[in-house]
Amino acid sequence: MTTQFAGFSQLDRLQRINYIIENSALTDDKKGSFDDYVAYEGEQQGLFSDMIENYIGNFPIPMGIVPHILINGESFMVPFVTEESSVVAAASKAAKYWATRGGFGAVVESMTKKGQVHFTWNGNPDKIQELIPGIIQKLFLSTSELTEKMKQRGGGITEIQLLDKTSELPDYYQIDVSFETADAMGANFINSCLETIAAVLQQLPELNSGENSIEIIMSILSNYTPDCIVRCSVECPVKNLTEWYTDLTGYAFATKFKQAVDIANLDLSRAVTHNKGIMNGVDAVLLATGNDWRAIAASVHAYASKDGRYKSLTTLQLTEETFRYELKLPLAVGTVGGITLIHPVVQKNQAIMNNPDVRKLMMIAAASGLANNFSAIASLITTGIQEGHMKMHLSNILNQLKINQAEREIIVNHFNGSTVSFTAVEDFISKIREDQ
Ligand code: MEV
Repeated sequence: MTTQFAGFSQLDRLQRINYIIENSALTDDKKGSFDDYVAYEGEQQGLFSDMIENYIGNFPIPMGIVPHILINGESFMVPFVTEESSVVAAASKAAKYWATRGGFGAVVESMTKKGQVHFTWNGNPDKIQELIPGIIQKLFLSTSELTEKMKQRGGGITEIQLLDKTSELPDYYQIDVSFETADAMGANFINSCLETIAAVLQQLPELNSGENSIEIIMSILSNYTPDCIVRCSVECPVKNLTEWYTDLTGYAFATKFKQAVDIANLDLSRAVTHNKGIMNGVDAVLLATGNDWRAIAASVHAYASKDGRYKSLTTLQLTEETFRYELKLPLAVGTVGGITLIHPVVQKNQAIMNNPDVRKLMMIAAASGLANNFSAIASLITTGIQEGHMKMHLSNILNQLKINQAEREIIVNHFNGSTVSFTAVEDFISKIREDQ
């Protein structure tokens, strides 16, 4: 085995694949499989190969549609990209259920994002405070060229502040900058502005004279976005909740639902799983729309801990008459910029949703998260989660075992409503084959 990786990036795609075959357990007969999906509808490799370094091929993940999410009276067909069997079915079921009860109400509260220039200054903290109004003016001016286009789209820098952090780390300050980035997620724009501000800061004579000087540590956007918030809710009379599970009265269903949400608020183990169920829907939309799901996941989970303890992102208001369930979370998404213009499936997915602007996309992602979470809780407190999962689980097992259509029908009928396991399916297949 060669251990010399230098120059790997200079190889072309096929040379890289050959190199891997020569230096790993991958066998030669798998070579062709890297060509799957490389050409996208006649477009050649360049489209995806230029997105990352050391490209060898694409990794397909299923994409499905949740056909009718009613949000503020408008119906959306929503593309979900997910590898998890039950996610599309669960969101579709809840979306359909709530569409007959007024749908989802959603509001974008704010869309501000932030970034910081982290630096040290070895002068007297009172002096930097005195100088700061003049400095902030200069910093605004320094970014005017960069922000011009963004201003035309309704965005730009809205605030620059100095934060004195010297009590936490010697000589440490931040220039904390607030941004509006219109329909873009804005990471590149924010980072460019911050680096420009840092360069100016480092040259300012008022802070860099004699023994005093600024040392820039780093300039970077923050993925924590507690001021980029969407709220999404469903509401109906308690008596109208019966349809999900007819064995419980609306009030009994609502009361048990409330207990489940209360548990997610008080117990860390449950809160994480509860919020994961929300992210099933949110992430599926983020992936389908080419958004940075890692950044948003980091922000969402930090937001869930903002009161000093990790809690549920949803809240339930229950009275004798009314059931109102709300999800509130930070969603710094974009509908322009990033890979949105180059990824052909992202563009199609935007079109499927009638090309939402960023506010609408925030609402769609939040409604998808709430739909998945509602479905999960409603199943957990009634039938249990496995009933819904089993159908898809069985289908995955049958695909793995490459079962033909005739046998498939017999097996699906046999396992209808009962517990599925790989061994049980294998045993049943052996039995029907013996009987034949
Ligand atoms: C599975 O992907 C998600 C659930 O575990 C969520 C939950 O427990 O609320 C079903």
